Amino acid sequence: MRKTALITGASKGIGKELARLLAKKGCNLVLVARSSEYLTRLKEELEDQYGVEVRVIVKDLCEADAPKEVFDEVKQAGIRIDYLINNAGFGDWGRFMDKPWERYKTMIELNTMALTYFMHLYVNEWKGKQGGKILNIASTAAFQPGPMMAVYFATKSYVLKLSEALNHELGEEGTSVTVLCPGPTSTYFGEESGMSASRLVKNVKIARASDVARLGYDAMMKGKPVAIHGAMNKIAPFAIRFFPRKWVTHLSARVMRLPKKR
Ligand SMILES: NC(=O)c1ccc[n+]([C@@H]2O[C@H](COP(=O)([O-])OP(=O)(O)OC[C@H]3O[C@@H](n4cnc5c(N)ncnc54)[C@H](OP(=O)(O)O)[C@@H]3O)[C@@H](O)[C@H]2O)c1
Repeated sequence: MRKTALITGASKGIGKELARLLAKKGCNLVLVARSSEYLTRLKEELEDQYGVEVRVIVKDLCEADAPKEVFDEVKQAGIRIDYLINNAGFGDWGRFMDKPWERYKTMIELNTMALTYFMHLYVNEWKGKQGGKILNIASTAAFQPGPMMAVYFATKSYVLKLSEALNHELGEEGTSVTVLCPGPTSTYFGEESGMSASRLVKNVKIARASDVARLGYDAMMKGKPVAIHGAMNKIAPFAIRFFPRKWVTHLSARVMRLPKKR
């Protein structure tokens, strides 16, 4: 029998590449995001190309009840979810005080609340059955504080810690939780967050969304707890353990600010 994956933020970027990869492997899909047109186009592409069944759910996951509404719709349709992929997320680059509160509220709601709610719904659904696999998309931002993107970095740190803890806790239930930590990746994220102007994006190699998705997919299938994309991105979280915390924040601030004018 075909497996089914639920992917949030499947209309663009890493989520869309994960959808393509899973469809190629013969997996049915439930695709969730706000952009109805993008999702419908992707559904048509994947059904035509791979003969899988794709259900589109147009939903703003910043709404408090949205994960439960998605869960109920999927259940009423008689679909069992085997893989839960919490990918939807956004950031915003700039000084903390300069952004409107609503922007942070929705960021926290999407990056942390919706992800946690989906996990709670599905691990309870899987309880006493054969379990499932969860893939949460964090970031290399999860490993240190990020001045100029303080709230975003903090949300990704939450995703990393929560995923590692629950992977440990849910092992007995036959459920694995994998957390994927991409570095800068070519998607709409840079534009949406405004961070394309920062030193970080100007100075590092930008990964392809398809490569990042492939790493996440492989790690989830193997039940690996943490997957970091890129050799340099793997070194940094290890190296910073040997520096005083204040230095780490200082270094992060240097990387996150605007490049010097020549
Ligand atoms: N790109 C990077 O450099 C990078 C690096 C590290 C981590 N990440 C993480 O990777 C994940 C995917 O981002 P991406 O790079 O692929 O960015 P992206 O191209 O901007 O895609 C983000 C996805 O999230 C969806 N989304 C945003 N707000 C939503 C909402 N309120 N409700 C439902 N869906 C929503 C978007 O769909 P709609 O607009 O259609 O709703 C889109 O499908 C995010 O969690 C991001 O934090 C990205």
